[in-house]
Amino acid sequence: MLPASNSSTAITVSEQAWQHSETVSQHLRRCIDEAGGWLSFEQFMHETLYAPGLGYYAAGSTKLSTRSQHSSHQLTGDFVTAPELTPLFGQILAQQFKQVFAHLDQPQILEFGAGSGQLAFDILTELDASGIAAHYFILEVSADLRARQAEKLAPWLSRVVWLDSLPIWFEGVVVANEVLDAMPVALVGWSPKLDVIERGVTWHDGAFSWQDRPARSALTDALTSRMPALPNYLTEINLQAESWVKNIGQWLNKGVVFLIDYGFVESEYYHPQRQAGTLMCHIQHRAHDNPFFAPGLQDITAHVDFSAMARAAKEAGLEIMGYTSQARFLLNAGLLEATLHSTSSPSSLQAVQKLISEAEMGELFKVLALGRGFPDLMLIGFKQGDRQMQLARSFQDQD
Ligand SMILES: C[S@@+](CC[C@H](N)C(=O)[O-])C[C@H]1O[C@@H](n2cnc3c(N)ncnc32)[C@H](O)[C@@H]1O
Repeated sequence: MLPASNSSTAITVSEQAWQHSETVSQHLRRCIDEAGGWLSFEQFMHETLYAPGLGYYAAGSTKLSTRSQHSSHQLTGDFVTAPELTPLFGQILAQQFKQVFAHLDQPQILEFGAGSGQLAFDILTELDASGIAAHYFILEVSADLRARQAEKLAPWLSRVVWLDSLPIWFEGVVVANEVLDAMPVALVGWSPKLDVIERGVTWHDGAFSWQDRPARSALTDALTSRMPALPNYLTEINLQAESWVKNIGQWLNKGVVFLIDYGFVESEYYHPQRQAGTLMCHIQHRAHDNPFFAPGLQDITAHVDFSAMARAAKEAGLEIMGYTSQARFLLNAGLLEATLHSTSSPSSLQAVQKLISEAEMGELFKVLALGRGFPDLMLIGFKQGDRQMQLARSFQDQD
């Protein structure tokens, strides 16, 4: 997710939006009361983003800026994602998917958190042009995004199906772009005396406030196995994302999963110098680190610990099929050639630049591919610069 270039303008929030945020705050205060005065940050983030009818992803705000707004510089929303920058992102993913489809009985895709539906639109367009009539399944937790997706994908409604829950069995390609970063994280760290703490939220003197407690044992175990003790250190652990990945092992019969997100391997994530973690909020193309600001009106995210995701996948019996930067993946799968053949307007070239530039999404964003049933398939997206060896350290305990 990227803030767009107009981020020097002031944040303007309508009276109605402030009222909505006040309602979300009241809901959060009730949650704190019901939890006995202290709510884990993980639960706070869950409620702020997903409380039915209230949360950022569960009420009707605009969230994602669309491609047409981007090129006309009339941006609404809070952030821009890769599919919203250029159709080439979806086209290149479709090239990778075609390679997998050649080894499957049926071309099927399952997308998690499909946002505005733009990625599905671009993938289906590209596959149709190659004569592949894929079936597309979407699992989306946000009701209003689901409605937006249905509008966008109207030409394919006979082949697009929205799922209400995880499948019990699936064969095909699975894709999740910037979904792991939207799953609620626990805030954990080391106190000045080197106790493992979990940070939670209280309501104090008319405002949300931080309070630390001894961490739950699952978090203590996870933190102590991932980094040495360092005083005054705060970071995140995403147990929900880890169990989500582990769960894939239960329903993926045969296929490849592409997880695309910003993040690092464990040694970078829990680096001694990253003392304040990676938690980030996005509102109106501004990025900042205060999750108490305007609850319900801003996105809250954290970077992804890809070592933890890979470990969860291995525990679930999945294979790691590749891990590399977004730039490397897209270039391996044909981005350069596709850009040369596309109508290269200055704005579309700028979008490609954003996807692959080291200073923007190219290096920070990674692609992790997990699979089942393809022991010998070398995915085109990882043919050069595969970094799965960087993940290997996390398997030492398991092998
Ligand atoms: C940052 S947006 C990314 C949207 C889109 N993939 C894109 O790249 O534009 C995060 C999306 O993940 C969805 N999401 C979060 N947790 C999810 C889960 N457990 N299952 C499915 N979708 C989820 C949100 O509702 C939202 O659509």
